[in-house]
Parts: sequence; C-alpha cells; structure tokens
Amino acid sequence: MSFPKSFLEELKARIRVSDVVGRKVKLKRHGREFMGLSPFSNEKTPSFTVNDEKQFYHCFSTGEHGDVIKFLEKTENLSFLEAVERLAAEAGLEMPQRDPRAAEREKQQTGLIDVMKMAQDYFRAGLTRGHGAEARAYLQRRGLKAETVERFGLGYAPDQRHGLLKTLQAQGVKISQMIEAGLIIGGEDIKEPYDRFRNRLMFPIEDARGRVIAFGGRALDPDARAKYLNSPETPLFHKGHVLYNYARARKAAYDAGTVIACEGYMDVIALAQAGFEHAVAPLGTAMTENQIDLLWRLAPEPILCFDGDKAGVKAAFRAVERALPLLRPGHSLRFALLPEGKDPDDLIKEEGTEAMRAVLEKARPLIDMVWDKEMEGGRWDTPERRAQLEARIEAVAQAIQEPRVRGHYATALRERLRTLFSPTPSGGFAGQGQNRFQPGRGGGRWQGQGPGNRRGQGGKSGRFQGFMPPASPELRRSALVRGGDPGRRNREMLLTATLLNHPALLERYCEEFAHLQFEDRELDKIRNEIIDIAALHAPLEREALGDHLNHRGFSELARRLTHAPSLMSERFARIDASVEEAEHGFLHLLHRHRHASDLQTELKAAERALAEEMTEENLARLKAVQAELGGFSNSE
Ligand code: UTP
Ligand code: MN
Repeated sequence: MSFPKSFLEELKARIRVSDVVGRKVKLKRHGREFMGLSPFSNEKTPSFTVNDEKQFYHCFSTGEHGDVIKFLEKTENLSFLEAVERLAAEAGLEMPQRDPRAAEREKQQTGLIDVMKMAQDYFRAGLTRGHGAEARAYLQRRGLKAETVERFGLGYAPDQRHGLLKTLQAQGVKISQMIEAGLIIGGEDIKEPYDRFRNRLMFPIEDARGRVIAFGGRALDPDARAKYLNSPETPLFHKGHVLYNYARARKAAYDAGTVIACEGYMDVIALAQAGFEHAVAPLGTAMTENQIDLLWRLAPEPILCFDGDKAGVKAAFRAVERALPLLRPGHSLRFALLPEGKDPDDLIKEEGTEAMRAVLEKARPLIDMVWDKEMEGGRWDTPERRAQLEARIEAVAQAIQEPRVRGHYATALRERLRTLFSPTPSGGFAGQGQNRFQPGRGGGRWQGQGPGNRRGQGGKSGRFQGFMPPASPELRRSALVRGGDPGRRNREMLLTATLLNHPALLERYCEEFAHLQFEDRELDKIRNEIIDIAALHAPLEREALGDHLNHRGFSELARRLTHAPSLMSERFARIDASVEEAEHGFLHLLHRHRHASDLQTELKAAERALAEEMTEENLARLKAVQAELGGFSNSE
C-alpha cells in the first residue's frame, strides 16, 4: 500500500534513527554521526554510521543505506507495511485511512483467511481419526516427529467427496466462498461441488504473517494422478509471490545470517527438524523474480539447493539467468549442489545432519556458476572459439542491470578468461583464479579453483572490510590523506612496501590484497609471491618474508620498494611505523585503490554506453565518472 508522503515524513521526523538502530547496534557518537559495528556484516572495525539529521544509516562495508523504515525491513525482516505500522505505533501516530476499495478487498480477504483456518482445523482433526492413522504412519515412516507435525500444522484430507464441504457449511461458510478459497471444486459446468483435496497429506502454506493462505496436498495413494496438488490461484494466494515456510524461516534466517531455498515441502520440514530452520521453498515452480526478492529480504546471500544431477544443474543455471538482472551490491546467491539424485530430505535421512551442513558450506558463489554455465561443453582451443567465449561472457555481464555489480562481474570474468587463455597459468595461489584447462575427451575438463571457491571456504573473511578507520594524526598529515593521490603506480608500490615492512597485516588483509588489480607487471609479480608465501607460511615475520623473497629472486625489487623515496612522505609504510599506523594507512590506500579501479571499470562502461547511444543520460553518466576520477592523480 502507498502512504501519503506527508505521513511518512511525519513518521520519520518523530523517530530518531539512532534510537531504533541503537536497540540493535551499540552506537558511539562521532560528531554529528553515530558509529557502530555493522549489523549487515561480521566486522571488527566499525563501518556503520547513523545520521539523525539526515535520517539515514549507511554501512561502508556492505553499501547498505537507507532510512529507519528500511532498517527495520532489513534487520527484522519486516515488510514495508509492517515496518511502518510498528514505527507508527511507537511514534503515537495513527495509520492513515486506506482507500475504500482496499478496505473492501481486505475485508473479503479476512473472510477467506477465516475459511482457510477452519479448513486447517478440519485437516488437522483428520489426522487423528479414521484413515488418519495411515497418514500418521506414513509421516512416522518418513521420520517426522510429532512435534514437527504440530509445528508445521500438517493434516490429512480424508478420502471423502464432501467431508470438508459439509464441515464448512455447518460453520456457516457459503459454497461460493469455499470455491473462492480454492478448497472446493465447483462452478457452472460442475453439477455437484466437491472437495479438492482427498486422501492427501496436507501442508498449510502461510503468508509472511503466518496466516494460512493455501495448501499443498501430497497423495498417499501411489497411483494418484498428481503426487502433489496445490491450491489454485485465489485472492489470497499467488504462488509466484509466496515461499513455503517464509514466516517461520524469517527469524531463523536473521540468526543464521542466511536462508536456504530448496525444492519441496518435505525438504523444508526435514531441514527444520535437523536444525536448519531457515529453509523455504517455492511452490512447485522455478524460483520467480519476486521470490528471489523475498529471499533477499531474509539474507543477502541465500543458498539455493539443487540436485547434483543434470536436471538439477540445469535448474540451477535457470536460476542464475533469472538472478543476474536483479543483482545489486551486496546481494547475491549461492548454490549448493547435492549428491546426484538426492534432495535435502534424502541426504539428511541417509547421511545425517553433518553431511547436509557440509553441502551447505561448500555452496558456490554465483560467479562460479556463471562461469561454469558459459564454459559448459565447449572447447576453447582456437582463436575463434575463444572469441566466441569472450563474447558470451561479456553478454552475461551485460545482463546485470546494476552498474557497480556489472562492472565487478566484467572485471572478474575477464580476469578468469585471461588466466584461462594465458599459455602458462600462473602457478600456486588459488586466489588468482587459475583454471587449468586439460584438453581431452569430451571437450576437456576444468580444474582448479576460481577465486570464488576460495571465498566460499573462507566464509565471512571473503568480504572486503573496506572501511577507513578514523585517521590517526600522523596519517592526517600524510600527503595521501590531505587530498593528494600518489597515482596508481605509487599506490601499488606503497601497498606492497607496507606489507613488506609489516607482514603481520597479511594475516588480516591477504585476501583483499589478492583481489586488488595491479597494473605494474613487476609489482604484480612480487605481489603474487607475497600472497603465495603468506598462504604457505603464516604467520610471517619480516625477516622470514625477506628470506623467502630472496629465494625466489625478488631481493632487489623488495629492497628498492622498501627504500623508495615515496616512503619518506608516507610514514605508515615505513619500517619504523607502529602497527596501528601501518594498518590505518594500508587500509586507506587499499580503499582508494579499489575505488580507483572501480571507477576505471565504470569509466570504460560509460564510454561504451555513450558510444552505443548518444543520450543525455549516458553523457551525464560519463561526466559523473570523469568528475569522480578527477580526484585521482593524472597517472590513473
Ligand atoms: P518432488 O517430486 O521433488 O517431491 O517435488 P518431494 O518434495 O521430494 O516430495 P516427497 O519427498 O516425494 O514427498 C518437489 C516439489 O515440487 C512440487 C511440490 O511443491 C514438491 O514439494 N510438486 C511436485 C508439485 O507441485 N506437483 C507434483 O506433482 C510434484
Ligand atoms: Mn523428497
């Protein structure tokens, strides 16, 4: 529903963002703003700011940004309407009157909700009498505990043509209403209306508020025409807009930091019984855009489970295609492929909870799936074929609407292509995304780990902690922070030199360092060596790092770097800087370097867009990037 603008403004004016945020996040005042640890990421240095005057919050590590309503939507998994309702109550504001048609619609829906509730009671009672015993035995055979059956409100529709119809009629429900609710099949060409669900195990489907809006019924008779029968579309139920178990999973998802999407009712229930309460499922169809959005309300990187067989992989690829245009900063999907022919319910039953957990932990990031999808089945061994692959990969990135995410995908995919086509794959470090092509039967096989894999294993550590801590006085005096930018090559030098002098930083920032782009080839080489050494020998002392580099023939370059004149003006990079100073300076520079790289990517995209289409909008976009790039040294 939409509210008058004045109402929302009034609401926001009455509520201080810091009060609401302060209940979730410990905030400390910093001038006009508040700072704290981001509730959206697992960080150690605060990057989350709240500004009461401007009425918003901003999270530097995830890019999350919004007003107090959005904050509640995100952290409490509320809908917009629910968040507004809650805040209005807190502010002592009355909710504005809705338009009469909406009120009428709502009344009609409330009527249907009551009918659904009565139906659920009937199905539940069905489980306790007559043939319900067989349904109970079935549930028991499938390993469902009584309390699980209770929690999910499962029931049984007896094998009667008019059982539900008569029960509802006795409670004063009109047949037309029963038909509207999708419970009874009737209509002009049907002589005698009858129960839609017969001899089926009943799964109530609830809306985000936990109200029953539909049912799924599983046949108990193996000869039944359909294994599962779902409610039709009704005023309450639009199946592409609903996820099974959404309401219960909401809370659990926030605690777990993620949400699992699997294929079936039984999977959701088996997962919940095994302790994964943050599981949902679409209703017998492929995931819709709307459902992906619902998932993102619960967690930034939902895990989609698919069967590891051919059909499952295909379904996963379809989900990839659906998701690409929707991606936005911080929001992605991960993919868990199960052993062939198994769904989560089977896996848990046959191999236990830990096996399921292992599958979830190995979930692969979206970019890996994108890569696999394009690589699949091809032989990329001639220039023409490689050009074709390159074009395909570029098209994939172009499918992404959001410019930043698009830019990063373009860069990352190009990097993988480069490694793929380079005659001698750079050895050693997995973070560089090497993929070794093994020509052979069936178009070759792909080995090695993309950068994504490594991130997947590292869990939270993969996230760039790109926030600049408040600058120390020393750092504030530095040329760097006073607005000057040392230029691309100098940044690359300084970053490397800082790590040579303070290898302890590698323990925390190796991943970030590995994901930077270095243009200077020589510096890029020593960077790879450092990453390699750090991966093998952490924790590293300064001397040990030096020794390793000597062995690998980098003593001269390392010496030049640590004695470079530019170090004189940037104290933090020097050997005599404190660890804190070094860290501050390093992070600051890291952030700047990434920002510059992003802008470069965006600049190219903007130039391309303008070349393709001379519009005011594209021109403005180019100018905006150029202006932002103006803050960087000319040597970019
Ligand atoms: P599956 O066939 O994988 O069944 O359908 P399942 O969930 O593993 O069920 P069990 O373990 O055999 O009891 C997955 C989902 O697809 C929808 C249902 O939502 C089901 O949960 N479906 C399946 C239908 O809507 N209709 C069907 O005939 C079959
Ligand atoms: Mn199953």
